[in-house]
Amino acid sequence: MTQRTIFAGGIAIVALSIATAVITITSIPRVQAATGQPKVSDTVATENVERGRYVVNIAGCNDCHTPMFGESNGTVPEADRLTGMAVGFSGPWGTSYAKNLRRSGDRMTEDEWVNFVAKAQFLPPMPGWAFREMKESDIRAVYAYVKWLGPAGEETPSPLPPGELPSTPFIEFVPTMPRQ
Ligand code: HEC
Repeated sequence: MTQRTIFAGGIAIVALSIATAVITITSIPRVQAATGQPKVSDTVATENVERGRYVVNIAGCNDCHTPMFGESNGTVPEADRLTGMAVGFSGPWGTSYAKNLRRSGDRMTEDEWVNFVAKAQFLPPMPGWAFREMKESDIRAVYAYVKWLGPAGEETPSPLPPGELPSTPFIEFVPTMPRQ
């Protein structure tokens, strides 16, 4: 084998691995809404999605971002998760809505997501500090999971300033003294 043949062979292998990576990343199936049974194939991208699912599940993100999650004892089908809550959280900050993260993922590139969550000043009760403690690889994994779920549901209403009455149902955060 001449050096030239080895060189050409090397380039062909690199090109083939890039093509394989592109095909595997773009061919990850989305959640099958009809069956509720997500099917995932591939290794690297799957590991990221799996990690994102794990982080979201243990960090309690579904508690606020998935309708009826607590009420259903965490049994909302995966295909219906992270679509945001149209029930507001009202307090001294006004009224906030736990956003539809599947729409957020659709709006942002991975790097935009990383920059945004690192700098955002979230309204309560979003635990922005969770993102500040999260490793960048986990922030990217959460993004991979949200992208894998795919866009679904409506955008959540915009937040309202203090004193403005919401037109949606809302939960009021008011400390109340025990009754005597
Ligand atoms: C206690 C309720 C609550 C929990 C738990 C929670 N969030 Fe949120 N989240 C919110 C609220 C409310 C907002 C809207 C904040 C605002 O308007 O500034 C929000 C906003 C966001 C946004 C901004 C989306 C956008 O498009 O602007 C992201 C991203 C996000 N949350 C991700 C997460 C992740 C990931 C977790 C789990 C680690 C999580 N949230 C846990 C309530 C919550």
